[in-house]
Amino acid sequence: MKSTFHLNQRRLRANDHIRDLASEVQLHVKEFIQPLFIDETLSNRSESATMTNVFSETLESALRQTESDLKAGVTKFLFFPVPKDRFDNNFRFDFAVSCIKKLKENFGNAIWIASDLCLCSYTSHGHCGVLNHAQDKVLNNETVHVLADYALQLAEVGADCIAPSDMMDSRVWAIREKLNGNHFSDVAIMSYSAKFASNFYGPFRDVCKSSPSKDLKIRDRKTYQMDFRNGGDAITSSLRDLQEGADILMVKPALPYLDILTKLRQQTTAPIAIYHVSGEYAAIELLAKNNLIDADLGHLEIWTAFKRAGASAIISYKAREAKRLIV
Ligand code: PBG
Repeated sequence: MKSTFHLNQRRLRANDHIRDLASEVQLHVKEFIQPLFIDETLSNRSESATMTNVFSETLESALRQTESDLKAGVTKFLFFPVPKDRFDNNFRFDFAVSCIKKLKENFGNAIWIASDLCLCSYTSHGHCGVLNHAQDKVLNNETVHVLADYALQLAEVGADCIAPSDMMDSRVWAIREKLNGNHFSDVAIMSYSAKFASNFYGPFRDVCKSSPSKDLKIRDRKTYQMDFRNGGDAITSSLRDLQEGADILMVKPALPYLDILTKLRQQTTAPIAIYHVSGEYAAIELLAKNNLIDADLGHLEIWTAFKRAGASAIISYKAREAKRLIV
């Protein structure tokens, strides 16, 4: 038995200086992506009921917000359109297209904008794709055709990146073909390549009015989003998306899936974004409202975990505060 105790590991924790020297990862504001919601039905911007400081913008207010985001060091955006019209076929994407056009006309290459590509905020039933006649199946190829056309329209008005989140098979291939065949081979694809059928998307669906209808036989997204018991699917699908022409991969949600991020990091050198989703964000806000956490410090800790696990980019509803928080 030892009779005296020696400091060993605690020497590295003794003060800010030595802790900084011993740290393995560092957050960088340039690696953050800020989600941006623009809702065609609004005449004034409106704050999400559950996500503090997350707004649905009008096109006009989005321009003002982007201006202030640029001042806060945020240059990369993930755009979600909330159109006023809903369709089951003959989709029209004019609203999303006009938003990207306006943002790029105003800010040019000062901003990098990825446009989320999905049908869930377009369909009357809230599913991410086109349904069959009996409304009991989400049709893969029919959906992929619509999405590839949509991607081209976004590229034509200057989208820097297309971010398919629909989870149909072969959509990355179809989008890449469509872009390359129409002289847009320089437009990037950030694929939601490891996207799980998660319980943490609630606040987002509230903002986008995109919950699957309870009147249908298929009431959830389990036939197209991944089963969280099957981590291998996320790896297989992500590597497949790279082969199909994706440039950036994504793991989503974030905290419950850090094992997936770490495994994927070991299998590819491609950039991997991690999406700290709406329900995860709202959970921190609820803790903070009850004085049980310092929300800023909580987010910093979580973002750091993303870097440790191997993330190249962080999609966060709090990206616009990253510069203020990172020291
Ligand atoms: C669209 C989409 C969703 C999210 C991003 N793109 C919702 C869903 O799949 O139902 C979720 C993002 C979040 O919760 O922050 N398919």
